[in-house]
Amino acid sequence: MSKTIKQLIKEKEDQKLRPQLLQEYIGQSEVKESLKIAIEAARIRGKPIDHILIYGPPGMGKTTIASIVANEMQRKLWRTSGPALTSPRDLATVVATLETGDVLFIDEIHRLSPTAEELLYPVMEDFHLHITLGKGLSAQVKEIPLQTFTLVGATTRAGLLTSPLRDRFGLVFRLGHYSATEIVQILERSARIYGVQIDSDCARAIATRSRYTPRIANRLLKRTIDYALARNKGLLNRAVVEETFQLMKIDTLGLDEMDRKLLLALAEKYGGGPLGIESMCAILGEDRDTVEDVYEPYLIQSGLLDRTPRGRMLTEKAKRHLKMDKGLNLFAQ
Ligand code: ADE
Repeated sequence: MSKTIKQLIKEKEDQKLRPQLLQEYIGQSEVKESLKIAIEAARIRGKPIDHILIYGPPGMGKTTIASIVANEMQRKLWRTSGPALTSPRDLATVVATLETGDVLFIDEIHRLSPTAEELLYPVMEDFHLHITLGKGLSAQVKEIPLQTFTLVGATTRAGLLTSPLRDRFGLVFRLGHYSATEIVQILERSARIYGVQIDSDCARAIATRSRYTPRIANRLLKRTIDYALARNKGLLNRAVVEETFQLMKIDTLGLDEMDRKLLLALAEKYGGGPLGIESMCAILGEDRDTVEDVYEPYLIQSGLLDRTPRGRMLTEKAKRHLKMDKGLNLFAQ
């Protein structure tokens, strides 16, 4: 699991802002309540928490919850991902390394290979690794006992999980949307950690453009702080926030250049749709997973794009928004 320096620096920054304990976590109140009960029960039993499946869009806090589980249980967190575990051997090496109560986080668990997934079933169920020795008629299955641990699986695509895998998780959490108020609270907390003053007007302006996603909100906050440092003696005010968004080309709905490229192409070249997913991928130059997980959900949720059986359609709201953009009113509130 080697990492580039850039990845490590980014992780350090993320970690600074990431809540360490459940009580610091803002939003997702139902998930927090269930998790609190599971943690308390596990502590009373003196056993690890049941395996947890978390699903939801990118940037909503899946990794954060895994690290909170490890912190609350005072155990180690190990992080990997479905695509990184290309062979069953990789997975076997990881689970054999775990100590009692450790938390193993597998991101994008829907992308585990079928053979690795099959190896995971007995591991999750009774903490045994089934290793096949030899081939054909002389093949033997050896059962190797493991330490008990908690698997936290995360996915943006719950629908792609096989039911045998899904059924082996004791706790299943869906991360829903954050309200504007919750995003403002997250921004205020992050600003405190950075040691920067932010008034509620600025926090609200950032929240509106954050797609109500904590990771995006924190990223925008960081950019506005950079701008304030470079151009305004470190003072964060409304003008700084607006100028940062101008520079980043993020509009009042939180759309970036890629979103507008897609909506404009749909309006101008395809008469508003319907447009198939493959054509959307071609417009954006991205793969299907990225378009479906990253670009589409927000456009659909904000009522700009409709998913119909014939393809994706631009909505009236999107047409109005694009017209407004053309009138050079792109960034005004
Ligand atoms: N930073 C990122 N997500 C957060 C959350 N849900 N609560 C508090 N701080 C956060």
